[in-house]
Amino acid sequence: MGKLVIDGGNKISGEIGVQGAKNAVLPILAATVMADGVCTLKNCPYLRDVDKTDLVLERLGCRVHRAGNTVTVDTRGMCDCKICEDLMREMRSSIIFLGAIISRCKKAVVSMPGGCPIGLRPIDLHLKALRELGVDIQEEHGYIKCSTDKIVGGNIHLDFPSVGATENAMLAAVCAEGFTTITNAAREPEIVDLGNFLNCMGAKVRGMGGSVIKIEGVSKLHGAEYTIMPDRIVAATYLAASAITGGEICLKNVNPRDMVAMLHVLLDMGVQLRIEKDKIIQKAPKKLESIHIVRTMPYPGFPTDIQSPFMALATVARGTSIFIENIFENRFQHVDELTRMGADIKVEGRSAVVRGVNALQGANVVARELRGGAALVVAALAANGTTTIGGTEFIDRGYENIEKYLLECGAKIRRE
Ligand code: UD1
Repeated sequence: MGKLVIDGGNKISGEIGVQGAKNAVLPILAATVMADGVCTLKNCPYLRDVDKTDLVLERLGCRVHRAGNTVTVDTRGMCDCKICEDLMREMRSSIIFLGAIISRCKKAVVSMPGGCPIGLRPIDLHLKALRELGVDIQEEHGYIKCSTDKIVGGNIHLDFPSVGATENAMLAAVCAEGFTTITNAAREPEIVDLGNFLNCMGAKVRGMGGSVIKIEGVSKLHGAEYTIMPDRIVAATYLAASAITGGEICLKNVNPRDMVAMLHVLLDMGVQLRIEKDKIIQKAPKKLESIHIVRTMPYPGFPTDIQSPFMALATVARGTSIFIENIFENRFQHVDELTRMGADIKVEGRSAVVRGVNALQGANVVARELRGGAALVVAALAANGTTTIGGTEFIDRGYENIEKYLLECGAKIRRE
C-alpha cells in the first residue's frame, strides 16, 4: 500500500524491459487446473492480482511455487471446487476459474465477483456460454453453483465480444465432448495467448485472434511449459510516461503488432517511433499535439485500459482532445483527480472533452482503480512540483515495480 510521491518535470528516458501481461497470465493460471500434471509459466509478473490468483489455486489444493518470474503450478492434489467470497470480492477476474473448475470437477461454486470499481461488470455472457455447453447454473445467496454430468460442445454466440466470457467459454469447451464454436468472440491478443497455452497442454483450439473460435474437445490435458506474452497496456503506459515528459525511451520485450491502435494515437500526438520486432523506440516532441477523437473499442480498436493514461497526455497537449468510452460506463474516475492537478476536462455521459493546458500542478490525489491510477502517475511525472498519489494498491494490481522502472529512467519517485 502506501503512497507514491513524485516530483515532476524530469524526462523519462532510457530502456525498460516490459513485464509479462496481467490479462494473459490470469486466465492461463486458471487454465492450469485442467492439467493432469505440472505447468511451468515463464515471464509471470510480480503483481497483486497474480498473487491473489496463486492464492485461489492454493485454496483449491494446488501447489504453487515461484522462482523469479517463473511460476510452477502442480494441480494434481486439487481437492476443492469452491472459490470463497473474500477472494472473489477482491478480484473479479477470479470468475475465469469457473470454466476451468467445471471442466475438471464437473461442479464449481464461486461467489459473485468484485473487482475494480469501474462500473457494472455483469457476468451474464459467461453464464450463457456455460449453459450452452450443458452446465446447470443456479444463482443463490450471492453464490453461483454450477454442475453437469458432462460438458458437451455447442454453438456459443456472444452478444458482445467480452474478453472474460470468451476465455471462460474456451476453458469449459476444450475438454467437452465434441465440437464448440464461439462466434463474436473477443479478439484480444491475450485470448490468442490463452489459446496457444491450451494447445501446448494438448487442446485443439483454432481461430483465436479472429471472431470465430473453433474447439475440438479432447479427453484430457497435460502439463506444459509456456512463456507469457508482454503486457501491451503497461508498454503503452511507459510510452505515455516518456511522451508527456519529452523523453526518449526504448521498450524491450514488446510485441508492437499488438499495439497498433495505441501507437497510431501517439504518432498523431507528434511522437517519432522506430519499431523493431520486439522493440519500440520513441522520441517525444517538446509539445504534444491534441488527439482529434479517441473511441475505446474491443480489439483491434483502441483499448479502454489505456484511455486514462492517454487522457493524462491530452491534458497538456496543444488543443482539444475528445475521448469516448464505449466499454465501461464508469471509467472516468481519474478526471476529478486530474482536474485537481489543473487539467481542463469536461465529462458528458461517456464523452470527455480535454482542453490542453500549459502545465499541470502537483497535488494530493487518489487512485480509485488500476488504470486511472496509472494516469495519475503519468500526469505527475510532468506536473510542476510534488504529487502524492494514494490508493497505490490499485496501481500494484497491474504494474510491477512501477517506481523502480521510472526511477531508472530519470523520474524522481518514491514510495512512502
Ligand atoms: C478484460 C480485462 C480488462 C479490460 C476488458 C476490456 C482481464 C483480466 N481484464 O476484462 O482489463 O478492460 O477486458 O478490454 O482480462 N459484459 C457484459 N456481460 C458479461 C461480460 C461483460 O455485459 O457477461 C460487458 C461489460 O460490462 C463491459 C464489456 O462487456 O461493458 C467488456 O467486458 P469484458 O470484455 O468482459 O471485460 P473483462 O473480461 O471483465
